[in-house]
Amino acid sequence: MSKVIVHADKATAAKAVAATIRDLIIAKAKAGQNAVLGLATGSTPLPLYAELVRLHREEALSFRNVVSFNLDEYEGLPGDHPQSYRYFMEQNLFRFIDIRRENTHVPAGISADASRTCADYEAAILAAGGIDLQVLGIGRTGHIGFNEPPSALDSRTRRVHLDEVTRRDNSIFFGELSLVPQGALTMGVGTIMDCRQVELLAFGTGKAEIIRQTLRTAPSADCPASWLKSHARCTFHLDPEANALL
Ligand code: PGA
Repeated sequence: MSKVIVHADKATAAKAVAATIRDLIIAKAKAGQNAVLGLATGSTPLPLYAELVRLHREEALSFRNVVSFNLDEYEGLPGDHPQSYRYFMEQNLFRFIDIRRENTHVPAGISADASRTCADYEAAILAAGGIDLQVLGIGRTGHIGFNEPPSALDSRTRRVHLDEVTRRDNSIFFGELSLVPQGALTMGVGTIMDCRQVELLAFGTGKAEIIRQTLRTAPSADCPASWLKSHARCTFHLDPEANALL
């Protein structure tokens, strides 16, 4: 079942999740296997990525045996667009570590056939042996990845329409609302539920209400993050501000 840990602050939470990821990578490397990580974007995972970079630089943690799959990408943005999630990963993590670029996966924001792209993404996750550990943030709508409400428990990687709350929240990065894409490609709730381990991070007062809703109401499509409560191995990592209404 899922559990909740309230950390002293977000830096402490980020260090704890980074240590879990380090241990997984090392254990897998010892067994001669790849560690398959699911990665997230947004401001929440930034301290986690900074800590992973520190572990690489100062403690020689290698990412040569890591395969990654990002949750989502804006529809219509090429990977070199400064607001694309491929670019975000490059800027905030990949360029600082020794991960092989061919092992990194982010859904293509531009493709001739989006449904084909989504089916291929699911197939690539399966071919990699499934995701060992998925990092998640949570949106104020209750979205995980870009699974806006309503998102069914069995939803898979697909095209979605972004909620206006999400577009407004993310418009700070684009400069103006009209520049925020209307759509995205995202792993589904079912794709996320298939991950063997899930580490969700939520920081700040802005997340307190949706964390209360997620943890206090019955799992439903109206709050996609609430499905995680029935995941066999999911931890919600909160700072005191995100925990304030519980
Ligand atoms: P944030 O986004 O980390 O920028 O708050 C979280 C999310 O939308 O999943």
